[in-house]
Amino acid sequence: MSQFIIEAVYFLTALLFIYGLKRMASPVTARSGILIAGIGMVLAVLAAFLYGFDVREAAQEHLTMNVALVLIALGLGLGWAWYSGKKVAMTDMPQMVALYNGMGGGAAAAIAATELFSGNAQSHGVVVSILAVLGGLIGAVALSGSLIAWAKLDGRMNGVIRLPAQQLINLVLFLGSLALGAYIVASGIEGGISFPLIALFFILALILGVLLTTPIGGADMPVVISLYNAFTGLAVAFEGFVLQNPAMIIAGTVVGSAGTLLTLMMAKAMNRPVSNVIFSQFGGDDGSEDGDIEGTMKPADASDAAIAMYYASKVIIVPGYGLAVAQAQHKLYEFVKLLQKQGVDVAFAIHPVAGRMPGHMNVLLAEAGVPYDIIHDLEDINEDFPQADVAIVLGANDVVNPAARHRKSSPIYGMPILNVDMARQAYVVKRGQGKGYSGVENELFFAENTSMVYGDAQKVMVQMIEAVKSLG
Ligand code: TAP
Repeated sequence: MSQFIIEAVYFLTALLFIYGLKRMASPVTARSGILIAGIGMVLAVLAAFLYGFDVREAAQEHLTMNVALVLIALGLGLGWAWYSGKKVAMTDMPQMVALYNGMGGGAAAAIAATELFSGNAQSHGVVVSILAVLGGLIGAVALSGSLIAWAKLDGRMNGVIRLPAQQLINLVLFLGSLALGAYIVASGIEGGISFPLIALFFILALILGVLLTTPIGGADMPVVISLYNAFTGLAVAFEGFVLQNPAMIIAGTVVGSAGTLLTLMMAKAMNRPVSNVIFSQFGGDDGSEDGDIEGTMKPADASDAAIAMYYASKVIIVPGYGLAVAQAQHKLYEFVKLLQKQGVDVAFAIHPVAGRMPGHMNVLLAEAGVPYDIIHDLEDINEDFPQADVAIVLGANDVVNPAARHRKSSPIYGMPILNVDMARQAYVVKRGQGKGYSGVENELFFAENTSMVYGDAQKVMVQMIEAVKSLG
């Protein structure tokens, strides 16, 4: 295939990626955005396939064998992605993102390894060699780090593992792999490539990824995954330069910058400087000083809470992870429509890290058909809580914990929270006395104006609907 056509396809791919990403900015156009970017990816894979066998001498040496190997890899990847994508539960999506992200970093590291082992990168000069080494380092860190993040989110690895002198060990590993990388670049130029040294370079980078992630606690994991996402994008872009593949350069840059922006936005939402993520200064507190919370949890019936909302003027609903677990979004919206019919002003308040992935609650509510104009972000609605007659929390916990404002020892200290405690009356729907994701007790549950409605969110919503229907 002519190189011109392949380059043109890459250009089209880049446009589709950027246009797709732009459409993902709004829930209304996000689905089509994903489809458009997906079409771009199919084109890029096809073009890369043809390009590889068209112009790369190495690939032509054992053409049939190479084509067969690539087709097997494509078949396996496609099959696995299709199966896991269809099967995954909404609540397990962050794990899947972590895993796929790790695969991206691993692919970039694998490209770096083959290009360095074969001497191909070195033959293109110092700049390409440096990019190959840097992409390999970042990709390998993203691979092992993302796998640890996956294991933590999937409950296969619990708690925080912190070594003595952790920062020093990480620094030594980082500087060691950089020094080895510099040596690989220099020795490649002189003509001799040391295979064991290249292998050691990747092993050090993989260990660094593991040790960077093991000390980080649960509540900070979304920021970490997003950071590794940015790493993967950067690694892919660097390896795109090595392979002279414009689609990889553009896709990598888009992923890298989107990941960086998302990391910064999430870190801001959780009030964590990003540097703390890298040096794992947080997330390790187990909230052991919960004991001095005053007050008691007061149980309430679902029907009493429903009636209070039915006769209220303004109700604010705060959804959280438990709503997704219970899949109660449809029943919730049915209940909201009954309130609106009665003339109640109902608004949804969404915390940026509610649930288990960015936009989790927006997706859930969109699934149930809740109109976007009654869904508000934290900064737009937080001032309204004091005017709300009732605020109801459905399966949320950490994102409404007032300890974040004042309890310095808390792992969520400093994270902006939704001001549910400032509403005249608060109801919290949850199954029992379980703690939130960060494992700390919630002061809101003990407050004077809070009542607890115990039960699975879906069952509680059914009871609330019945209670309200029986009134009118
Ligand atoms: P969480 O703090 O995780 O609390 C969820 C609550 O839902 C739990 O206390 C649980 O209590 C309740 N629950 C579980 N299943 C339920 C069901 N079937 N019916 C009713 N309630 C149920 O939720 P959140 O407030 O949404 O906070 C999110 C947390 O996850 C934050 O700490 C955040 O940092 C972290 N995180 C966020 C993300 C992103 S990007 N959104 C990613 C990873 C982690 P019971 O067990 O008593 O029912």
